[in-house]
Amino acid sequence: MSHTPSPNRYSRPDFYRRCGRSGLMLPIVSLGIWHNFGEVDDFENARAMVLRAFDLGITHLDAANTYGPPPGSAERNLGKILRGDLAGHRDELVIATKAGWTMWPGPYGDWGSRKYLIASLDQSLGRLGVDYVDIYYSHRRDPKTPLEETMGALSHAVRSGKALYAGISMYSPEDTLRASKILRDLGTPCLIHQPCYNIFDRSIEGGLLDVLGSEGIGGIAFCPLAQGLLTDRYFQGIPKGSRASKSHSFLRPAQVTDQRIAQARRLGEIAKARGQTLAQMALAWVMRQPQMTSVLIGASSAAQIEENVAVLKNMSFDDAELGAIDAAVRG
Ligand SMILES: NC(=O)c1ccc[n+]([C@@H]2O[C@H](COP(=O)([O-])OP(=O)(O)OC[C@H]3O[C@@H](n4cnc5c(N)ncnc54)[C@H](OP(=O)(O)O)[C@@H]3O)[C@@H](O)[C@H]2O)c1
Repeated sequence: MSHTPSPNRYSRPDFYRRCGRSGLMLPIVSLGIWHNFGEVDDFENARAMVLRAFDLGITHLDAANTYGPPPGSAERNLGKILRGDLAGHRDELVIATKAGWTMWPGPYGDWGSRKYLIASLDQSLGRLGVDYVDIYYSHRRDPKTPLEETMGALSHAVRSGKALYAGISMYSPEDTLRASKILRDLGTPCLIHQPCYNIFDRSIEGGLLDVLGSEGIGGIAFCPLAQGLLTDRYFQGIPKGSRASKSHSFLRPAQVTDQRIAQARRLGEIAKARGQTLAQMALAWVMRQPQMTSVLIGASSAAQIEENVAVLKNMSFDDAELGAIDAAVRG
């Protein structure tokens, strides 16, 4: 069946930012399907989240070959929604996928060879049920494959029409610079870099942000909420159904430490004084960097997506607030 989208979904032009020096605009909040979209999850909830996101103007959905569990099932579920409810809206959507982590057994189902990247893209297109993805990423740097080969595979994907843009994820500043040069020489400029960035993990401030700025590559931050730790999700312990409560998830209960909760509580007070939730402040904090095009959130309910999109109401910080955030993390 087909979904009738909200006629107001594009009513906020400030919800979109240009991705680096490209022609592509992305929503400042994008939705990733790493968790809560697999075969083990409730499909109707996944569907409700995608449709609510679309109604709120979230035009960018981020997948990867391995997302599930089992691997591949999140792409399959997204494909069902794209072919069903969102049929007729493909040109309003920016769909990304990636390859780099182990997807199938043997020497060709992992890392960064041309053999793996091209085969994996074909598989992803099949699961998603689309003719092309908008962004195809190398999910991680393969230290044993020449960067020229990995970037050549991304460029080939674009030239063959199976992807529109090339991206990289979790590359060091040095490799990003080299990758960007190789891609530019191949005539397929690097559109976007997907690193982890949040109030707790600021490693990209040590060089990568500068490279993104100088190369004109857009940044899209994954785990901007530290998988939920930068929200009020764990203020009363680990609730049933939360990411930390699930055995197949990537947030272990041991990561929900007293220290993290104390930091989050202090940050929550600052957010309250700004008139927003901790989640909203954490997203705005990432987006204060001019190199950042979008925050790539995850969600387990449509209500979380609604709350996060409302980040738009207060995106600016003064020096005192930024200092207070740093102090809250130091403790
Ligand atoms: N390139 C890479 O290597 C890489 C790595 C990781 C992720 N990613 C991408 O980044 C996306 C986002 O990662 P992520 O899911 O870890 O991001 P995140 O936004 O840091 O965490 C999402 C989790 O936070 C909780 N949450 C979200 N909004 C909330 C709210 N308003 N109030 C309370 N809790 C809230 C939910 O946890 P509950 O489920 O407990 O409700 C949700 O599942 C992934 O889907 C994937 O597309 C890429």
